[in-house]
Amino acid sequence: MINMAKPQIGDEEKRAVMEVLDSGMIAQGPRVKAFEEAFAAMCNVKHAIATASGTTALHTALLAHGIGEGDEVITSAFTFIASANSILFVRARPVFVDINPATFNLNPALIEAAITPHTKVILPIHLYGLSCDMDPIMAIAKKHDLVVIEDACQSHGAEYKGRKVGSFGTGTFSLYPTKNMTSGEGGMITTNDPVIDEKCRVIRQHGMRKRYYHDELGYNFRMTDILAAIGLAQLKKLERFNAQRQENAKFLSENLKGVTVPFVPEGQTHVFHQYTVRVSGGKRDALRAYLNEHGVGSEVYYPVPIHQQTFYVKDLGYNQSLAETERASQEVLSLPVHPALSSADLETIVAAVNEYMTK
Ligand SMILES: Cc1ncc(COP(=O)(O)O)c(C=O)c1O
Repeated sequence: MINMAKPQIGDEEKRAVMEVLDSGMIAQGPRVKAFEEAFAAMCNVKHAIATASGTTALHTALLAHGIGEGDEVITSAFTFIASANSILFVRARPVFVDINPATFNLNPALIEAAITPHTKVILPIHLYGLSCDMDPIMAIAKKHDLVVIEDACQSHGAEYKGRKVGSFGTGTFSLYPTKNMTSGEGGMITTNDPVIDEKCRVIRQHGMRKRYYHDELGYNFRMTDILAAIGLAQLKKLERFNAQRQENAKFLSENLKGVTVPFVPEGQTHVFHQYTVRVSGGKRDALRAYLNEHGVGSEVYYPVPIHQQTFYVKDLGYNQSLAETERASQEVLSLPVHPALSSADLETIVAAVNEYMTK
């Protein structure tokens, strides 16, 4: 079976972990600090704060910006549940706007109509490895005095007009094993704002500035040095991993038939966390079954948009229609694109898709 993901763990990661274990200091310490500095440099921002996951990075970023009860956060419903649940964790309300069908990302043209006196944040999600259209999003945020928190959990190293994602507003990243780089589990927050940096560090560590003095409610959202050592080793390989993903995606886009291949807008670099095609005519699930029979893994990200998830409908009363989001959830199919694919794997994927779509 050609799998959807294969974490690339080499000798560097293994050696780095053993060094930490041998050091006797394995909780958050010097490796976390070094990882934060290297990650900030990669994104070209002043500060990065490591957390236990992408979800806790989002949660912490929202808290650091003072978002809470009664506030509204404009975002997309075509994403992983954590993007929206983190808004619920702080008792704010996600307000969903539809996506641009060409990019699967938040459609900036629909944002202003969703703004109310309660709106505090725009939370764009750079889905699949492609940045949202940040110029109009930043312009709307400035005009309405809104905070921008980027969910870059799927887009490490992606660029929009020469700038890295995570450097526009407050950035949040996931370091889960299937991502473009991993620390096992983990997350990262990026910011140029020293006040937000400090708040995130305090929230991550039980609201503590001075040891055992707690000024505010905080959490244990720390990363360990063991995981930071893996993350540091992976960060050094990120550019190479992303280049390999881009090369694999190029081959797929040049050779696949009968499906709509990913669109990369002018001035953007897609880092292909997922290589996602559209399959129209109601054939998506049958194609997926055919691929599975022929040894090619695939996945639907995401079959149920968040505004239609059971507890959003039943418990939270969501009852809206987002036409492009709903159509995408019926048509998208992600194919393997990870850096460990061989040329033979890529040929197999293309042959299987083309056989089914052209028969
Ligand atoms: C878009 C998006 N947001 C948030 C998250 C949450 O990250 P984590 O799984 O590290 O908590 C993920 C990860 O799966 C994601 O893909």
